[in-house]
Amino acid sequence: MDRPLRTTLEELIETRISRREAVKGILAAGGAMTATWCLPGESDAGLANGEMGETVTVESPRAGFRELPHVCETGDASQIASIGVADGYNTQVLIRWGDPVLPGAGKMDLLSPDAEAQEKQFGYNNDFIAYLPIRRGEENSRHGLLCVNHEFTNPELMFTGITYDDKLETRSDEQVRIELAAHGHSVMEIRQADDQTWHLVQESPLNRRFTLNTEFEISGPAAGHPRMQTEQDPTGKKVIGTISNCSGGVTPWGTVLSGEENIQYYFHGDLGDSPEAENHRRMGIDGTGDYSFFRLDKRFDLAATPHEPNRFGWVVEIDPYDPERPAVKRTALGRFRHEGAATALNRDGRLVVYSGDDERFEYLYKFVSQGKYDPDHLEKNRDLLDEGVLYVARFDEDGSVNWLPLVYGTGPLTWKNAFHSQADVLIDTRRAADLMGATPMDRPEDVEENPVTHHVFVVLSKNYERTEEQVDSANPRAVNQHGHIIELEIPQVDGKPDHAATVHAWSMFLKAGQLEQDDAWYDGQKPTTWLSCPDNITFDNQGRLWIATDGFQKSSGVLDGIYACEVAGPRRALTKQFFHVPIGAELCGPCFTPDNSTLFVGVQHPGEYSTFDAPSTRWPNDATSDLPPQPSVVAITRSGGGPING
Ligand code: FEO
Ligand code: CA
Ligand code: CA
Ligand code: CA
Repeated sequence: MDRPLRTTLEELIETRISRREAVKGILAAGGAMTATWCLPGESDAGLANGEMGETVTVESPRAGFRELPHVCETGDASQIASIGVADGYNTQVLIRWGDPVLPGAGKMDLLSPDAEAQEKQFGYNNDFIAYLPIRRGEENSRHGLLCVNHEFTNPELMFTGITYDDKLETRSDEQVRIELAAHGHSVMEIRQADDQTWHLVQESPLNRRFTLNTEFEISGPAAGHPRMQTEQDPTGKKVIGTISNCSGGVTPWGTVLSGEENIQYYFHGDLGDSPEAENHRRMGIDGTGDYSFFRLDKRFDLAATPHEPNRFGWVVEIDPYDPERPAVKRTALGRFRHEGAATALNRDGRLVVYSGDDERFEYLYKFVSQGKYDPDHLEKNRDLLDEGVLYVARFDEDGSVNWLPLVYGTGPLTWKNAFHSQADVLIDTRRAADLMGATPMDRPEDVEENPVTHHVFVVLSKNYERTEEQVDSANPRAVNQHGHIIELEIPQVDGKPDHAATVHAWSMFLKAGQLEQDDAWYDGQKPTTWLSCPDNITFDNQGRLWIATDGFQKSSGVLDGIYACEVAGPRRALTKQFFHVPIGAELCGPCFTPDNSTLFVGVQHPGEYSTFDAPSTRWPNDATSDLPPQPSVVAITRSGGGPING
């Protein structure tokens, strides 16, 4: 990369400040904006189909695709109802909600789904995607395991006769059981044919479904603690189900990490004067969630089972190569609304896992393992995530980030504040972080390590509620409608990244939005396809950043999509759209094969804000069919083959 690595904190801060000043000068000098865009409620009538944003003025020779213009939600009906990709690339719907996953499973009858079949079929609302080559440790880009999270369900789009307003009452018990089975995670063996198309190996013994009916182990410092025990599980070491599995990560030993995020939607009932009431309130669990599981299972009734929520909100580890091995909730990584769990190998072999807590004014965390990754002995890594230190981030105005340890017995984390063990600190991670003085952020979503620079990119999606008085350098805009991305400048020792460092520099990578209107900033660039509401990110193997959006349609009337940009050199932060999703959808889980010849993306909740009976899109089904839209994974390849961004 042509961005020099710097060595000391002082140098880092100095350089960042001077770069900001230079950029301010560039912006002050002005320059005509050529981008077009659509604002909420604004029509693009008068523009020919595809004209939106076609005044492309910048073409990066290194990002080798011609950018896809923004697509406005008020645009051409056939265009907004479907996906779109840059010229020269092919898309294939690889798997969709209800497709068979397990051997012997059938395809879902979308007009009459059933719960037993759903247990063996692809779940709803695919989010995180990991591709793990077959076999473990190899780099095979044409035969692997696709591991996909199923974050949540949209009953109003899955079933006839349900609306947003009445969905709590109108779901049938069978529909609730379908939703239970449509959550979780799928593991699928897939192969690529010579014509570049991907195919599921349905009879593979490696294919698995994890649902809200699957048993998980609980490990680490909180396992077995009385606050983790329930009538159904007096050991506190087993739990049925995983929920709200959003983004995730992959460990060096070939397991998948999955973040349990919005657990607050799943519990009902009166908190009463339970000793857990404050804990549940701090997690946003107020007993009025959107889901009806409490009707079938008293575990989701807060009055009956006040400890059950303590068994969710963790990072789950799944070994997709070993179908006999149970999945494990790793409590050492803390309990909060984990967006994901991004791994980074420290210079000394310890594993670091970064994770954002996706809620307005919540925090950024990292876990540093005590033991070291052993590439030669798989079994020695099995429980590496059970011992280590969890830290929370404080971003200081001098341009440094301080990582504050959440360790029982230190600072305020003692009996004086009702912490009696490390288990208490981990179950009440948010409260512990409050007391340590962490920096409240603008909804931390995905985090990823750049494989080339080893710097870590942190996505802050948006935060409409931040006031002028609450603005700080890491969250620099009040009423932040568009979000921003921060770059953690990981120091290096002997050329290797020190992710375990407890103080280092950070800088702003971009502030999303439209340049002149939103106090947006792209490191001095003027992107035609600017972006809003970044969420999931990934890197290609040359260190370029790929940014998926969630909420662009709501903030600006532009369909969500994925944008690529350089992270160094003259085009640093110059975003270019590569792919867009249909109306109502967000783009999730971008994931490259090791050789970058395929990019898998998730199309989540196409048609959201409409219903099964009047859907805004039926994608990936034909618009003339009577079928509902289906969340799906799309495989993108380059015409003629080769790396996506070659
Ligand atoms: Fe599930 Fe934070 O997105
Ligand atoms: Ca997300
Ligand atoms: Ca990611
Ligand atoms: Ca989001």
